[in-house]
Amino acid sequence: MSSTNQWNADKYKKHADFVSNLAFPVVELLNPQENERILDLGCGDGTLAVEIEKFNAKVIAVDLSGDMVQKTKEKGIEAYVMSATGLTFENEFDAVFSNAVLHWVKEDEESIKKIFKSLKAKGRFIAEFGGYGNIKFLTDAMEEVFKKHPEFGDYDNPWNFPKESDYRQLLENNGFTVEYIELIPRPTKVDDISNWLDIFANGIVSHLTQKQQVQFKKEAREVLKPKIYSQKDGWVADYVRLRLKAYKTV
Ligand code: BEZ
Repeated sequence: MSSTNQWNADKYKKHADFVSNLAFPVVELLNPQENERILDLGCGDGTLAVEIEKFNAKVIAVDLSGDMVQKTKEKGIEAYVMSATGLTFENEFDAVFSNAVLHWVKEDEESIKKIFKSLKAKGRFIAEFGGYGNIKFLTDAMEEVFKKHPEFGDYDNPWNFPKESDYRQLLENNGFTVEYIELIPRPTKVDDISNWLDIFANGIVSHLTQKQQVQFKKEAREVLKPKIYSQKDGWVADYVRLRLKAYKTV
């Protein structure tokens, strides 16, 4: 859901299916009920929307990427191109669900206000996304490569990984009652880290030439190898999840 990252649905399916495969605890936390209307905020390719509809709930899915919205529609889900800060719904949903998306939203208070507005009275907001400390090895490595190459310009971090206490405060300040919020370290096996960089960090290097982008990836991989690669486990990204359940207080 970043405004700068380019999403390629086919590469995403091939190298990043762990994003939805590891999200079943969040669907469990959502606990969809029959006939509920549920907003899937940042639906990606629609995999989780399909899982939620298996509970006979009606899902409306939104994503910033037209390519992802198209994939979601092809799975039979009603889907729209829309951002977290541009939600246009009002008192419409029993629940808002969001997996692995809100770390792309720097204007987190604005998105919380829009989520609140989208919910019916006493509606719930269930989310999981990157929290404080998430992918620190990765961001440090990318920054290191930029520092080594002044010709690359400044390293511009596109992510927002909030602390549990800060996000709780934002929710409470904007009318939510927080039932549960927790930071959960979740080391995550990924295939070659070059693919991760390709899929998730392309916005960081989109201003560079093709040759510089290749160099960036190669050097970041070299910095990362002694830190997050082992013969036994392969590449393991240092993910930290912020998982939460909150209610619209009326
Ligand atoms: C995450 O799910 O934590 C994440 C994914 C891609 C980029 C940054 C964070």
